[in-house]
Amino acid sequence: MKEVVITFENVTKSYPIYTHITSGFKNFVLRFREVWNNSKKRFIALKEISFEIYKGECFGIIGKNGVGKSTLLGLIAGVLKPDTGKITVKGKVASLLELGAGFHPELTGRENIILNGVILGMTKKEVMKKMDRIIEFSELGEYIDQPVKTYSSGMLARLGFSIIAYLDFEILLVDEILAVGDINFQKKCREKFQEFKKKKVTIVLVSHNLYEVISLCDRVMWLENHRIKEIGKAEEIVQNFQ
Ligand SMILES: Nc1ncnc2c1ncn2[C@@H]1O[C@H](COP(=O)(O)OP(=O)(O)OP(=O)(O)O)[C@@H](O)[C@H]1O
Ligand SMILES: [Mg+2]
Repeated sequence: MKEVVITFENVTKSYPIYTHITSGFKNFVLRFREVWNNSKKRFIALKEISFEIYKGECFGIIGKNGVGKSTLLGLIAGVLKPDTGKITVKGKVASLLELGAGFHPELTGRENIILNGVILGMTKKEVMKKMDRIIEFSELGEYIDQPVKTYSSGMLARLGFSIIAYLDFEILLVDEILAVGDINFQKKCREKFQEFKKKKVTIVLVSHNLYEVISLCDRVMWLENHRIKEIGKAEEIVQNFQ
């Protein structure tokens, strides 16, 4: 019997719509009604979403830009709240959401490792014990003692992935992070994913790289027009999507 670890029941998520009045106060007064009406309108990013994710599977999410993939990960992570519907998540969640999210730009890579480790539930002592291995995995060399604001996208991805590589968690959320790493680092990440899979970690992966989705994911959800279009075996869904 498959154990369900993430459940979405009829979840809808919207964002406020912003209206810009750029040409002064007079225009603002004249267009007040429009601004007021728009302030009540909301943009629906995800509509009536229901699905389940099982323990230990790698679950892919695909779909065009702006369809709601990152929003969905944010809802699982608990950084966003749904307007309506119910979300249940069982287990400790680690996430690689946006590049650099969760890092303090002025702190060095090393200091950010400590900060993130502690935020994700380790003691400082535990982080220090794993520090050398984390830095080695990141291959950031002497950059590890430079402020994170000086890092390239690939370097940020390396730092983020290296931290989670040595953490304990049951659910891992990944948003497009592998794409910015170089070939060598992508290979290392893939090997780490296989290790996570063996440990029965549940992985939710958002990616535009369909080759990566087929090679890593068991099941895939295809989002279209902010709704679920199809859920099923990775190869089948990717084929229908193309
Ligand atoms: N904070 C926000 N405020 C207003 N609208 C937002 C906000 N975040 C996202 N949106 C809108 O919600 C929709 C879904 O965004 P989301 O980032 O989830 O898409 P996505 O599928 O991850 O796209 P991409 O493939 O480009 O990463 C988009 O149309 C976006 O403009
Ligand atoms: Mg996104």
